[in-house]
Amino acid sequence: MNEKGLEREEIISVLNKSKSEDLKYNRVLSSMCTYPHEIAIHAHMQFMESNMGDFGLFRGTYDLEVSVLRSLGELLHHPEVSGYMTTGGTESNIQAIRSMRNIFQRKDKCHKPNLVVPDSAHFSFDKVSDILDIELRKATLDKDLKVSIDSVRSLIDDNTIGMVAIAGSTEFGQVDQIDILSDIALENNIFLHVDAAFGGYVLPFLEEQHDFDFKLPGVTSIAIDPHKMGLSTIPAGVLLFRDPGQLESLRADTPYLTVSTQYTLTGTRSGAAVAATYAVMNFLGKEGYRKIVADCMEATYYLLDRLAEIGIYPLIEPVMNVVALDIPKADLIRSTLAKDFNWQVSITQNPHGLRLVIMPHVTIEMIDSFVQDLRTVLETI
Ligand SMILES: Cc1ncc(COP(=O)(O)O)c(C=O)c1O
Repeated sequence: MNEKGLEREEIISVLNKSKSEDLKYNRVLSSMCTYPHEIAIHAHMQFMESNMGDFGLFRGTYDLEVSVLRSLGELLHHPEVSGYMTTGGTESNIQAIRSMRNIFQRKDKCHKPNLVVPDSAHFSFDKVSDILDIELRKATLDKDLKVSIDSVRSLIDDNTIGMVAIAGSTEFGQVDQIDILSDIALENNIFLHVDAAFGGYVLPFLEEQHDFDFKLPGVTSIAIDPHKMGLSTIPAGVLLFRDPGQLESLRADTPYLTVSTQYTLTGTRSGAAVAATYAVMNFLGKEGYRKIVADCMEATYYLLDRLAEIGIYPLIEPVMNVVALDIPKADLIRSTLAKDFNWQVSITQNPHGLRLVIMPHVTIEMIDSFVQDLRTVLETI
């Protein structure tokens, strides 16, 4: 740090330079985030100083959080839901599993607990395993890249605290057979956490309906991220529990704050992201999200048609706006697209393919230009 502060103009010029070096979303086909909605940005700026870590000082923002939770509870078929706004899917997943672990430990089990997750689960569950010292048991996927039910059943034993199901997998956008997993959870008396960090703001607004939420009686918690398809600002995640007891298992006493207990992983929390989420959800309503999702799906199908013209097909029929392409040399194609054309795409691991996420910032013009560049890359490698 400098002894003396710099001039404002100097700082702003550095900021402008750094900003200009950031990629613009108009070359990004790999991210699950996008430009936040204008009204979310407005609300975020208005609540910049609001700290939900000590929400007794920010009662108004706290009421907005309660309202967001209620709206999501209603959307996901459990209006009396409990939970809180997290920093995103990773924190929601950590806290969901931590609550399972806490409840399991209270039952005096002495063996190391294990958690059954699909092989397609987000890498945040590897962090969960490390932080909570839980054995992660990865179930294989079936031909549709959903978790294999037989594999899940074979991994459950007396020390299984719960299972994870994915509603919109990071790599493939696939949705597991959560109705069957819900039955298995009830049969075995274990928790079932649904990671809908991406799909939570997509599935309820698709024409084809999928059962993935609290409508299924075995589902005990859900992660859903407003800062992905919810069009809120970063950092905005939500963790929801069916049973308030599960939230209670995360309680910490907070003697020096205006409120005496906290259930969150972080202390200080962004009230700005809470206000942004409230604003965008109320501005768009279900109708607005339905239109956004329909536009993304239309762009997704347009992309598939254009790719079919050059002989490229998806690994699975896309369920949502995530496309995994069956294409050899995906690594080389990815790096060439970045180097020669400044396109950001990503890859899938197993099976190996090229991954594209068709977020609201992806236009038809972008798709046309991308497919043309991809064709050039394929001709040259
Ligand atoms: C299914 C899923 N879960 C969890 C996460 C982690 O979310 P975050 O990066 O907000 O922590 C992601 C991120 O892409 C995801 O796709």
